[in-house]
Amino acid sequence: MTDLDSLEAAALGEIQTAQDADALDAVRVRYLGKKGVLTERLKTLGTLPSDERPAAGQQINRIKSSLKQAIAEKKSGFEQSDLQHRLGREALDVTLPGRRQDLGSLHPVTHTRIRIREYFERFGFSVEEGPEVEDEFHNFEALNIPAHHPARAMHDTFYFGDGMLLRTHASSVQIRYMQHNSPPLRIIAPGRVYRCDSDPTHSPMFHQVEGLLVDEHTSFAHLKSMLVKFLQTFFEDEALQVRFRPSYFPFTEPSAEIDVAIPGSEPGNLRWLEILGCGMVHPAVFEQVGIDPKRYRGYAFGMGVERLAMLRYQIDDLRLFFENDLRFLKQFT
Ligand code: PHE
Repeated sequence: MTDLDSLEAAALGEIQTAQDADALDAVRVRYLGKKGVLTERLKTLGTLPSDERPAAGQQINRIKSSLKQAIAEKKSGFEQSDLQHRLGREALDVTLPGRRQDLGSLHPVTHTRIRIREYFERFGFSVEEGPEVEDEFHNFEALNIPAHHPARAMHDTFYFGDGMLLRTHASSVQIRYMQHNSPPLRIIAPGRVYRCDSDPTHSPMFHQVEGLLVDEHTSFAHLKSMLVKFLQTFFEDEALQVRFRPSYFPFTEPSAEIDVAIPGSEPGNLRWLEILGCGMVHPAVFEQVGIDPKRYRGYAFGMGVERLAMLRYQIDDLRLFFENDLRFLKQFT
């Protein structure tokens, strides 16, 4: 048993120089494992003279616990440096400002459409929709625009070539609704429409809200009061100046366009801006959808949503609505 001291020194040396946790564990197994050097030594105690046994036993046990402690220290050293290593690698600066969540907002066109809808819903109009890919019958013929009518040329239509087209106005929804419902009727039809046209005030796709009211007693006076009140409410201006200008649409008679007055470049100057088309439903349209024109009358109107939004927010280029530039859109939050 005289070599126990050098055995201990050798073991401690190996523990100290172990390169990693695996190497350290190999040292532990070699000395303290079931078949380890010290375990074997304990088993051979019986071969010693009886007066040497207690001292030798004690010494082996002392060495065992000193090795265990050295191993535990070395192990926690490895764990510490692992941790340091990871902290260095996965650097996280908790003092950096966080990434805030950006709140979106309604597109000005959407916002305008909602304001229009809310106004007419108060008067009992319900919201109807129709297809954007339309046929010639609903977009033109039933609206009293036969094949060779000059009004067709004015519409700059996108045709698909098989009698189908992209609807040029939301008036097609009037026809679809009247075909399947009997008066009294009150609807608005918001939606996209398409025309082959593009410049600062025209876009190949834009939004309209169509309106239709049909009953036995309505009149142009009703149409007038409904739309004047609408425009004053929409622009939040009781004193808004509005003018009805005689106009022509094949599907209404009489027809008018409504202009609103906006301040011009010089004080006291007014500029009139066309904002809406309207009129009394033409008897020929009622006949197309099987409504008796002697019994019923109706009025209809159609407005451009972008046009209204441009006026209300003083935007001078229509294309801004479709570029989706956040610097523009964020102004409407
Ligand atoms: N559909 C017409 C247009 O797009 C507007 C309109 C609708 C006019 C209803 C009269 C009645 O220009």
